[in-house]
Amino acid sequence: MSRYSLKRSFFGGEPCRVCDEIRTKIYYRHPFPLPAGMPKGHWLLSDCACIRKERVESRLEQQNLLTRTRRPDPLPIGLRSHSFENFTVMPLNKKSYEDCQIFTSRFPQDHGRGILLMGPSGTGKTHLACAIANRLKESHSVFFASLPILLEKMRTSNVDLDGLLSADLLVLDDIGSERETAWTTERLLMIVDGRMIKSRATIFTSNYDLADFDARLGMRAASRIISNNLHVFLKGPDWRMNRHGRRVY
Ligand SMILES: Nc1ncnc2c1ncn2[C@@H]1O[C@H](COP(=O)(O)OP(=O)(O)OP(=O)(O)O)[C@@H](O)[C@H]1O
Ligand SMILES: [Mg+2]
Ligand SMILES: [Zn+2]
Repeated sequence: MSRYSLKRSFFGGEPCRVCDEIRTKIYYRHPFPLPAGMPKGHWLLSDCACIRKERVESRLEQQNLLTRTRRPDPLPIGLRSHSFENFTVMPLNKKSYEDCQIFTSRFPQDHGRGILLMGPSGTGKTHLACAIANRLKESHSVFFASLPILLEKMRTSNVDLDGLLSADLLVLDDIGSERETAWTTERLLMIVDGRMIKSRATIFTSNYDLADFDARLGMRAASRIISNNLHVFLKGPDWRMNRHGRRVY
């Protein structure tokens, strides 16, 4: 050890008044030369049991703080309140509601099987998809995207493709509503196929009929989406209508 490296000398000690452990006096020598007249180091007391305990506790607290710092909410603000609790269950949507609940409670299932939610506008497809996502987002990585918006974003800026393909759960809202071109068809296939290969579940919502899927989504994406997911049909009223039959929003 060089003359100025960190050096310890032991020189008696004193008992801690709480745990009685002897706190040895340690002389820490500065690892570098100091100007003449200044001390070469300083005296410290070694840690006793209570100090070690305190240090472990504070480290744990810091770790908790770090893990508690949430990742940003994956859902757009307007969809964060959609839950199973505020979904009105009635005979027409009871089976679909239960299918979604079972999916959530068994998540993640083998082979990355997901859900294909279909039905007319306003029947609660996005609501149920988000109820699942909101339930799972604390414990799993979740990604939400409206397909037409996502494709537009992919065309004009950088999208976190890795997050999109690797998220435990992806909600792809409104498939089929995108402007269909060779490019959008190819992008959708890449997402669907990329997730299937990784056995990651996707929830799709669409208000197109299965019969239109080939034409709207391209044959290859359509056949994968149709064959790999549980089909859930939503029926019932258009919840965006008021009781006079007018569209409210
Ligand atoms: N069963 C329900 N109970 C309570 N609110 C509902 C129910 N179904 C739908 N809603 C509400 O109605 C509105 C429309 O529902 P949602 O957006 O899920 O429809 P959608 O089927 O996705 O329609 P679109 O095909 O037009 O996208 C939302 O505000 C949603 O919270
Ligand atoms: Mg919707
Ligand atoms: Zn002590």
